[in-house]
Amino acid sequence: MKAAYIEQTGEPNVIQYADLPDPTPGPGQVLVKVGAVSVNPIDTYIRSGAVKLELTFPYIIGCDLAGTVTAVGEGVTRFQAGDRVWGSNQSLMGRQGSFAELAAVDEQWLYPTPDSMTDEQAAAGALVGITAHLGLFLHGRLQSGEVVFVNGGTGGVGSAVTQFAKAAGAKVIATAGSEEKLAHCRELGADLAINYKSETLDADIKSFTESHGGVNVWYETQREPTVERTIGLMQKRGRVILMAGRDARPEFPLGQFYTNDLSLIGFAMFNASPDEQRACAEQMNDWFTAGKWSPQIGNTLSLEDAAQAHQLQQDNTLEKQGTLSGKIVLTV
Ligand SMILES: NC(=O)c1ccc[n+]([C@@H]2O[C@H](COP(=O)([O-])OP(=O)(O)OC[C@H]3O[C@@H](n4cnc5c(N)ncnc54)[C@H](OP(=O)(O)O)[C@@H]3O)[C@@H](O)[C@H]2O)c1
Repeated sequence: MKAAYIEQTGEPNVIQYADLPDPTPGPGQVLVKVGAVSVNPIDTYIRSGAVKLELTFPYIIGCDLAGTVTAVGEGVTRFQAGDRVWGSNQSLMGRQGSFAELAAVDEQWLYPTPDSMTDEQAAAGALVGITAHLGLFLHGRLQSGEVVFVNGGTGGVGSAVTQFAKAAGAKVIATAGSEEKLAHCRELGADLAINYKSETLDADIKSFTESHGGVNVWYETQREPTVERTIGLMQKRGRVILMAGRDARPEFPLGQFYTNDLSLIGFAMFNASPDEQRACAEQMNDWFTAGKWSPQIGNTLSLEDAAQAHQLQQDNTLEKQGTLSGKIVLTV
């Protein structure tokens, strides 16, 4: 099979596209003929070596995939040949990645793809959707009627946060960096969209939430969170979700934090159990079918363009070029 893989960590050009042996599904595994994959920032951190994992070379890159089951291993109960599936969590914890024509995947990391969802949409929404859902509901305990703020409302995770918060009956404030992306935030369901470069950003958040008493769930997607600012904008018992920025050392106003009964919650999607992730996936599928979830695709390339796709992702996530709106999807 053709695969995109690395033999060593480094810049995007360490990614090779060539033949590797076909995998065979082991016990509990499903063999997926991959139709589409998508790129996530973590793929670029693993490839560069910034996030140090034990990698077995050749190491196939990529977490997300969608495709069709062609064979099942011993003991598989949830899927059979011909089923369309999507999933994430590949390339982590010693597993090989998804950027290949075939992938042998533990069935616990796969979900049925709704009939009306393309493989491109399913792959685009996989890791970011599960992350948004875990942050809002498992960790953020979001309730209908609450106010959610999401920094980066059209980003991979942010666009899912905006839509899921809206689907759950929250009021949503989202930020973006251009007029076009602000309009996009509103299309995704934001009640208020504000440019994150605006000098009146905090005043606008305050006046929007004044009658409500502040923000209930702050979903931060930035790698250098301004926790000090955030805490001043929260309602009592608010929850601040932090999920990016391994090297950040933010200022922390302890007095204002504990005297308002606030919670600061960090999480990584890959720590969630298969059952926790499946609960997210099932609701995402339902919301997709009900027209409340639309995975956002910014660029569509081919699997052989994996190095170019990594460059584009890191230009946006690390260099903040702002040239991406939605996920980079590679068709296989
Ligand atoms: N903990 C976890 O489990 C987990 C899971 C997934 C991702 N992550 C991390 O979460 C982060 C976001 O991932 P992603 O896939 O959503 O990235 P992404 O698609 O690159 O989105 C980045 C977002 O940041 C926005 N942005 C850029 N500069 C900003 C600023 N100064 N203020 C506010 N927003 C700004 C961008 O808005 P514009 O496009 O409008 O400029 C865009 O919406 C990454 O660091 C990733 O590693 C963590």
